[in-house]
Amino acid sequence: MMARALAGVVPSQPKEFAAFVVDEETRAAVLQAAAEAGLVEPHVAQSKFEDALRRLRKIPTPKILVVDLGGCPDLIADITRLSEVCDEGTHVIALGDVNDINLYRQFVSFGLHDYFVKPIVPANLAAAMTNAGKETEAATPTDQVGHVVSIIGARGGVGASALAVNVAWTLANEHKRRVALVDLDLFFGTCGLALDLDLGRGFREALENPSRIDGLFIERAMMKCSDKLFVLCAEEALECAINFDATAVELLIDHLRRDFQFVIVDMPRFAARTQSSILTPPSSVAIVTDPSLAGMRDTMRLVGLLKKVAPKAEPSVVLNKSGANSSAELTKADFEKGAEAKVSLVIPYDPKTFGASASTGKALAKVAAGARVTKAVASLAGRLVAIKAPAAKGKGAGLLQRFLGGARA
Ligand SMILES: Nc1ncnc2c1ncn2[C@@H]1O[C@H](COP(=O)(O)OP(=O)(O)OP(=O)(O)O)[C@@H](O)[C@H]1O
Ligand SMILES: [Mg+2]
Repeated sequence: MMARALAGVVPSQPKEFAAFVVDEETRAAVLQAAAEAGLVEPHVAQSKFEDALRRLRKIPTPKILVVDLGGCPDLIADITRLSEVCDEGTHVIALGDVNDINLYRQFVSFGLHDYFVKPIVPANLAAAMTNAGKETEAATPTDQVGHVVSIIGARGGVGASALAVNVAWTLANEHKRRVALVDLDLFFGTCGLALDLDLGRGFREALENPSRIDGLFIERAMMKCSDKLFVLCAEEALECAINFDATAVELLIDHLRRDFQFVIVDMPRFAARTQSSILTPPSSVAIVTDPSLAGMRDTMRLVGLLKKVAPKAEPSVVLNKSGANSSAELTKADFEKGAEAKVSLVIPYDPKTFGASASTGKALAKVAAGARVTKAVASLAGRLVAIKAPAAKGKGAGLLQRFLGGARA
């Protein structure tokens, strides 16, 4: 749906491509091939195989990957190591110096998309890239794109960011899903802080230059929290104005959902008005609130707003910090009646566990696995996994599977 909304903005050719080559001559040939294949803004790095491996280990690998094996001492072992750092869906085209038909057959039987002996003829490489692009598109049906979960606080300080962080962490570390956590509050966001991450650079530039948003541009702006959890956050100077529109966020999320199984968005309230497309199914929306009168009023207002801007959103309401101030709190039934919305989850007030989590920069599950708040977060993550239950993907799971599993057609 979102891809359709973006038609005309996103180029229809294969979207994500990167190459690692060892010499200048090969780099020029790969660039020419990429241009002939219609790949937009190709990223071609000149680096040795070991450096390429190191880099690929840290990032979501692109849909089409060209790797130069020139100078590698043990090609079969090196191709196996390469398979271990590639995500499912990555098509690898290798380049090398060895002209040996048996080696070529072995590579192809391992699941490598193609192999070319140097010097590279750009037209041949371009044909292989085009072919890999078609396979990529055929292999990515729209119902397999990542699920977007937007978490919106009805009021300040109700725990929306804490929930976003912990749901993302649980999906990544306990359900082994590939997760992108996006903190759309570029000034005051706390997701990076909560996970004790250094601040990412480039998030703001990505949003301000939507035409430059592509897989590698985003990947450079992302902070890696664990093998499966990547975070986009910022702490922009308060005196700076940021100029970006809803389309940039939409484009960013659209890219992320192609690479991640879940995209968790910590969304400031004011953004809910403009980001209607990412709030529309197949996304999920959770409104987090405390059980106060003001929380009830603002939940009702937010539900009303969503009915107007994203009528199909069907937000769930999470009542957080229940029991913090029992004498002034609404009961669940009164809250639901007043807010005209059902509460789908109640999370107790637990300053000890949240305090330990905040002071150590660790997720709730790390500091208190058995706590009721941790279990509540786990149940939310579990429900999301049940909505969207694709097989676990990840480093090594794709190419390696194919490597072990046999020949391609
Ligand atoms: N169930 C809970 N029990 C105790 N403390 C909690 C609970 N949930 C969140 N907190 C704490 O409340 C504080 C505010 O949480 P958080 O920053 O996630 O709120 P927010 O809704 O994102 O706020 P903002 O409006 O500033 O973005 C944090 O210190 C967090 O640790
Ligand atoms: Mg917040």
